[in-house]
Amino acid sequence: MSATRFQIEVMHGVNLDQLGRRDPLLYGTLTLPELERQIEAHAVELALGTRFFHTNHEGSFVEHLHSIGGEADAILLNPGSWTHYAWSIRDALEIAALPAIEIHLSDVEHREPWRRISVIRDLCFATVSGRGPDGYRDALVRLREELDRRRA
Ligand code: DQA
Repeated sequence: MSATRFQIEVMHGVNLDQLGRRDPLLYGTLTLPELERQIEAHAVELALGTRFFHTNHEGSFVEHLHSIGGEADAILLNPGSWTHYAWSIRDALEIAALPAIEIHLSDVEHREPWRRISVIRDLCFATVSGRGPDGYRDALVRLREELDRRRA
């Protein structure tokens, strides 16, 4: 029996288009387009469809969250530093009302204290952080399991 093909909205926020220029020890060396291609390849293996979105504008991130109802089954999001303070994004994620998983390339729990705060964490069924680009594969596996569980 073939797996149900779920659609995942992959959202990157502020400064993540600068991957490749940011500290490689924290964020690795992939650019955002390279990271997106890697995510897409992992998703294909898991029979997950992907659509990618990036912006440096908080309002655009919010409006994108408003618009994805019916277009996606779940959200994989790395809002960058907005994670730590952008209550508007938290509210919009709540409005989107889709299963969501939070991801960070770096280990936000073991950096500056302000990075330990996440205003979206309790709306997400899981958080993956500190595993670099490979963490996205882990997150997709978690999403696949979660969507299969909710579908059963
Ligand atoms: C980040 C962690 C954030 O604290 C930081 O502001 C980012 C990237 C990560 O992927 O590790 O821009 O979300």
